Amino acid sequence: ARSEPLKVMISGAPASGKGTQCELIVQKFGLVHISTGDLLRAELSAGTDIGNKAKEYMNAGRLVPDEIVTAMVTTRLSKEDAKEKGWLLDGFPRTLAQAESLERLNIRPDIYIVLDVPDEILIDRCVGRRLDPLTGKIYHATNFPPETEDIKARLITRPDDTEEKVKSRLQIYKQNAEAILPVYSDIMNKIDGNRGKDAVFAEIDSLLSRVQKEEQDARKSE
Ligand code: AP5
Repeated sequence: ARSEPLKVMISGAPASGKGTQCELIVQKFGLVHISTGDLLRAELSAGTDIGNKAKEYMNAGRLVPDEIVTAMVTTRLSKEDAKEKGWLLDGFPRTLAQAESLERLNIRPDIYIVLDVPDEILIDRCVGRRLDPLTGKIYHATNFPPETEDIKARLITRPDDTEEKVKSRLQIYKQNAEAILPVYSDIMNKIDGNRGKDAVFAEIDSLLSRVQKEEQDARKSE
């Protein structure tokens, strides 16, 4: 029998490693990665209506209004590939209102992962973060330097990655995270994100493999 595809949410403070882990999860599990940060940055660089509305908020490190982000995500989730391969939602829901919108539409993940990393480390990770605009790959000036001089030369930094903006993003995250938690407390798994990325992934991998197997077993006994 065909198994039901996995549905995963990954949450955590700015620079807790969501994007980094999502690259690894997608490689192994083939889920459709839906990152609201990436979607918004793409709208911004394409100069769309959504991009123009979101720009001010993003560059200041503030949240983009719920209606804009929620519409973007629900449209993306309804596409065929997400239904077929399963999905990995990264950076959404970020407010209680966003979580409630998903609940109303009966969209619930199989598992809710929270990456836990101490504040001081988060700030250093943001300030050192570098992005490859060509491949979308995430680097860090000291933790994960680029492989070649060519890549190094084209790396960019995000306008919201200054120390001051990271501190305010962190505060906004904390205010909202607590409000969202009760919605997913029954499927929540907190993971220590303050380890090497392979160690963090090993734990996520075994969690997701277990959930996948449970789904398959449940189907078989139906
Ligand atoms: P978004 O892009 O989602 O930003 P974020 O949540 O702040 O998360 P980051 O992308 O900063 O970090 P990450 O956890 O992915 O870490 P990464 O893997 O890159 O959102 C940006 C903006 O968009 C928001 O501020 C808001 O304006 C808007 N927005 C997005 N979603 C929204 C929503 N739902 N509602 C409203 N507005 C929304 O890693 C960070 C660095 O650490 C990298 O340099 C990496 O190389 C390094 N690193 C990663 N893992 C490790 C490790 N294990 N050890 C050492 N270094 C590591």
